[in-house]
Amino acid sequence: MREPRHAVPAVDFQGVGRTYGGGRTGLGEVVAVDHADLKIAPGEFVCVLGPSGCGKSTLLNMVAGLDAPSKGRVLFEGAEVKGVNTKVGYMPQESKLFPWLTAEKNIEFPLRARNVPGTERKQLVSAYLAKVGLKGFENAYPHQLSGGMQKRTSLARTLVYRPSLLLMDEPFSALDSQTKMVMHEELLQLWEQEKCTTLFITHDLVEAITLADRVVVMTRRPSRIAEIVDIPLSRPRDVYAIYEQAGFDEIYDHLLRLVKKEMRYE
Ligand SMILES: Nc1ncnc2c1ncn2[C@@H]1O[C@H](COP(=O)(O)OP(=O)(O)OP(=O)(O)O)[C@@H](O)[C@H]1O
Ligand SMILES: [Mg+2]
Repeated sequence: MREPRHAVPAVDFQGVGRTYGGGRTGLGEVVAVDHADLKIAPGEFVCVLGPSGCGKSTLLNMVAGLDAPSKGRVLFEGAEVKGVNTKVGYMPQESKLFPWLTAEKNIEFPLRARNVPGTERKQLVSAYLAKVGLKGFENAYPHQLSGGMQKRTSLARTLVYRPSLLLMDEPFSALDSQTKMVMHEELLQLWEQEKCTTLFITHDLVEAITLADRVVVMTRRPSRIAEIVDIPLSRPRDVYAIYEQAGFDEIYDHLLRLVKKEMRYE
């Protein structure tokens, strides 16, 4: 953790549970999240691992205020999330750029929605285009960009209004392993610069170790937190040499054991 323990957590899941269906919905009841207690410190990078369907996206949706807990509370910077939380940057699992807007206009979109004045908008868009290495592609439409460039545009669109919390739901899962490493490097650089608390969902153990201060491993549904694993690797991290870092193998084996256990469906 990078902040003193007494700081108000950026995110605080207090006895959170989320059940879907039942009642008049005609669907059987699904306990997605049974119980989650988790405090995330300001500036911390936390990754969440867990089997498909265990409620990882549900947890992010509750922080973003797009979903609400059935029990317990979700606090953002000390206040209970009620309704859409406009202070967070959210890259949802099915994050899509607007196909009819250029890279530049996509990045500008959230600033327009917030009525940021024109000159400031221009400066911010230009700065964030540069930060994610997209100078020269301002006027390209999403279909003219590679998968990695589309993710970069998406990341710039999420960061441009400088949210204090970044929620990322498997943002790089569709990318090839080299592009993924480039994205990791860029994301970590941005995170160091912006000091943005980050909650990042992944199924990729190496990605979690590369990025996180702590990794939260969820059980299968009805899910609970199986274990929270500290990643004590030094920073700044060399994403291309992460396997060579002392301690990597032990952390990887430990995470793999935890994840494997939760993958068995009996
Ligand atoms: N709006 C909804 N209505 C009904 N059930 C839902 C809804 N959203 C999620 N669920 C159910 O809650 C459970 C958790 O879903 P969630 O999308 O959070 O899983 P996940 O851990 O993100 O999975 P994955 O790794 O596949 O993305 C699933 O069983 C899903 O069917
Ligand atoms: Mg999901």
